[in-house]
Amino acid sequence: MEKYEEIDSRYLQTCDIPVEEFKVEGFTMVIFGGAGDLSKRMLLPSVFHLFADGVIPGEFGIIAFDKVKMTEERYRNMMKEAVRNFSSESFDEKTWSSFSKRLFYLAGDFKKDENFKELIRKVKKVSSPKRKEKIEIIFYMSVPPQVTPLIVDKLEHHNLSRGVFQTKLIVEKPFGWDRASAIELNSILTKSFNENQIFRIDHYLSKEPVRNIVFFRFSNNTFEHLWNRRYMDNVQITVAEDIGIESRGAFYEKAGVVRDVVQNHLLQLIGMVAMEPPIGFTAEFIRDEKLKIFRCIRPMDDKFIDKYVVRGQYGPGKIRGKDVPGYRSEEDVSKDSITPTFFAAKFFVDNWRWAGVPFYVRAGKRLNKRITEISLQLKSVPLRLFGRTCDVPQEANILTLSIQPDERISLRFGVKYPYGRDKIYPVNMVFNYHTTFKLKQHPVYEQLLLDCMKGDLTPFVRQDAVESAWETVDPIIARWENMPPKNFPNYAAGTWGPREADVLIKREGRRWITA
Ligand code: BG6
Repeated sequence: MEKYEEIDSRYLQTCDIPVEEFKVEGFTMVIFGGAGDLSKRMLLPSVFHLFADGVIPGEFGIIAFDKVKMTEERYRNMMKEAVRNFSSESFDEKTWSSFSKRLFYLAGDFKKDENFKELIRKVKKVSSPKRKEKIEIIFYMSVPPQVTPLIVDKLEHHNLSRGVFQTKLIVEKPFGWDRASAIELNSILTKSFNENQIFRIDHYLSKEPVRNIVFFRFSNNTFEHLWNRRYMDNVQITVAEDIGIESRGAFYEKAGVVRDVVQNHLLQLIGMVAMEPPIGFTAEFIRDEKLKIFRCIRPMDDKFIDKYVVRGQYGPGKIRGKDVPGYRSEEDVSKDSITPTFFAAKFFVDNWRWAGVPFYVRAGKRLNKRITEISLQLKSVPLRLFGRTCDVPQEANILTLSIQPDERISLRFGVKYPYGRDKIYPVNMVFNYHTTFKLKQHPVYEQLLLDCMKGDLTPFVRQDAVESAWETVDPIIARWENMPPKNFPNYAAGTWGPREADVLIKREGRRWITA
């Protein structure tokens, strides 16, 4: 996946970091829910690309385990179609033909012991390692969250989780519904698996510009000494989506924006941007530092929440000129739903580095455009040398880490406008992944699966972070549930959210940078 020909390789530095030592060994991947949507859209296309790129060894097998009755042949055909449809790269028949020989299907009921016995037989048959080591199995939980405990219990019962095999468990969010249920879920998982066998996916951590944050911050001296309360005026994070809830009404009605993206993606971004340098480049050191940030996010009481946290729900509106329905008219959504689809807040990270620096964050569905960005705004210069009316320098210096759809880093600064003596104009210095490395959007799931195969836990979420993140958002969810909103829907689809989100930042003399 490295494309060295695009760059001047004399300047490419290979770092001697432990992550490079991980190797992808032969493995068997068991996908529970292997006939489902995630498998079709993401998992199978991703493993296929890794295989086509020669990244994973020939010695592997994939066993899809699902309720739907079908033959192996039908499953292979179904996945061939899916890979063709959902893959960003061109499809090669010959490669598929050798890949599909490694693809197996088991139809069964997750509740039935005989199906797990059959699974063991299949694993042994599929894996048949020439090597003497234990068979390595990755269990992927591509099932609704309530099914995971049942399967994990069966894996334990059939001695599949520890012992005979060398195993890893991949789980998708939600990791609980609040802190208490997250702890409960974890106690079920850790009855069968050790923490370092559990790969909790937060796909934001695998986006290349997010992975880059530690490299950018800690391999350059230019910015890191500005990266603190002395020089930063505020930090802003926007996770904006222009899509609605698509076909996930039933889930979203219960989850809402806080459980869906704030507790996980948004807080993880705060962790990445705010953390101290880790003492080494290993998963645990990095995850330790992020955890410290979660632990010092200022706890919010009701008074703070009422003043500094804004909720919203979209009504009908226009996205790129097309009429779209309001949230309450979406499929599986109640006509008087009070589920929030928008969140904005001011957070404080109460530690030595960030004391007093506000973190303004927002996330929402059906906003003006799809954009995820982190902006760090520097304080203004100490003296208005250019006169009292010249307010450009106040916002002159902004460092923006754009995560999607553009993948870039830009620094805004003011320069003299050449057609006048008394004018300053803000300009941008930009690094763009696409133009520098000729890259398309990065394949997030490929990278995640590869990391799991290699055993690198860095982009996965540790349980203590899950709990700490719930601790931050639980009071917000509780306050909102106790105080139903009276003004929903309070923003039109296609806008930047409710007016209160602008008020939140404007009354402090600032504005949202991402627009
Ligand atoms: C998921 C949420 O975790 O992230 C979705 O459940 C959301 O509601 C998605 O749309 C956003 O991911 P991305 O990568 O498209 O920004």
